[in-house]
Amino acid sequence: MSQLTEYQFPKGFWWGSAASGPQTEGRIENDGKGDSMWDYWYKEAPEKFFNQVGPEKTSQVYQKYQEDIQLMKATGHTTFRTSIQWSRLIPDGVGAVNPKAVAFYNDYIDDMIANGIEPFMNLYHFDMPMALQEKGGWLNRETVDAYVTFAKTCFELFGDRVKKWFTHNEPIVPVEAGYLYQFHYPLEINLKHAVQVGYHEMLASAKAIAAYHGMKLGGEIGIILNLTPSYPRDETNPADVKAAVIADAFFNRSFLDPSVKGEFPVELVELLKEIDHLPVYEEEDLVIIKENTVDLLGINYYQPRRVKAKETPIDHTNGPMPEDYFDTYEMPGRKMNPYRGWEIYEKGIYDILTNVRENYGNIRCYISENGMGVEGEERFINEKGEIEDDYRIDFVKDHLKYVHQAITEGANCQGYHMWTCMDNWSWNNAYKNRYGFISVNLAEDGKRTIKKSGHWFKQISSQNGFND
Ligand code: NOJ
Repeated sequence: MSQLTEYQFPKGFWWGSAASGPQTEGRIENDGKGDSMWDYWYKEAPEKFFNQVGPEKTSQVYQKYQEDIQLMKATGHTTFRTSIQWSRLIPDGVGAVNPKAVAFYNDYIDDMIANGIEPFMNLYHFDMPMALQEKGGWLNRETVDAYVTFAKTCFELFGDRVKKWFTHNEPIVPVEAGYLYQFHYPLEINLKHAVQVGYHEMLASAKAIAAYHGMKLGGEIGIILNLTPSYPRDETNPADVKAAVIADAFFNRSFLDPSVKGEFPVELVELLKEIDHLPVYEEEDLVIIKENTVDLLGINYYQPRRVKAKETPIDHTNGPMPEDYFDTYEMPGRKMNPYRGWEIYEKGIYDILTNVRENYGNIRCYISENGMGVEGEERFINEKGEIEDDYRIDFVKDHLKYVHQAITEGANCQGYHMWTCMDNWSWNNAYKNRYGFISVNLAEDGKRTIKKSGHWFKQISSQNGFND
């Protein structure tokens, strides 16, 4: 029995990390995988990816998963989240299942379980099969049905062993990155399309939840949302507060409210109605969304959004945009990650958990991602070849203290997953920013080495807590 620590977490707290299929698995010849929109985009425009590293190699988890699971064990993982790549399991998005994918995911899942690591499986992590993207991807309502078939196939194949499922990871990202700000394919700027894409993702989530519950497999299903608390510049200034409320409705509550409460936020619906940007929908969809809310909420938290009333001129070149209603700003004196340029605000994690406790029925939740990206992390390698990432230990510890405080006050938070286990491929940034507990040396065929933070995590996992 471990000794109690100063920050002791509830019994059974989930310790682990998160990753995704497209960012880790890689691809080998004849594995039967179809192209996702990332594979396609990389072939079209490799220069858009940092150092031209594309999605076909990533961290070679497809070949190295057994070694990786041993490393997860060595770093104290009791749980691990990844995703099933739709284009690996069903290469054309609809139609035949790829038997090699079934064998791979079976082995991967079985090996995790055999090593005492509970697999959490997500179904969609930005990786639309290209065959469906060609027909509009999430813009096309037929994709909702294709996704539900994919989800049911996953539940049938793996649901006897996987007991924690998630319909989407960060569903706002395909909306904003693909249809507002051009970081992801199809690189559009079109609020109408953005809203429709988000709506279809939400409907797909509710339908997958309905299917899962109907199958009675004895597990639970949720969604993973990146929540960025929106803080007004001046809480006593109504215009700043209003701006923050709108930013929150667009980027957080757009998925949080329907996922947990079964309803879209009135503030967002009213605003979209006013500008004639409501999505195309069917009345019965709203019943499906109302009746099929999540069992469990995953919360990804990296940084807050600092918001003030609109001061800059509205630019309508691209039609209406969320930024017509608020400006963001850099809060003077804010703490920054010196190695990546993102704000670090640890209390944000407490504010989210408290908001979920107070306003979302204290639904069962866990921190599904939190972590620190570091550019040029090789500079911290010591003579033994290990990365001394004390900055990451401090980052995780400082966030965990706030998680602990929220739990002490009653938040129903069941676990903490760091992003990520092995350094992985991060979309257009490829391997620019490293996030893992374990380094991956691309020059040495992806050689893995546990970082100082990985050894530290093992200790806190085995004590179920830590001392300051
Ligand atoms: C969120 C996403 O889920 C993941 O795909 C991404 O790589 C990390 N955050 C780091 O930015």
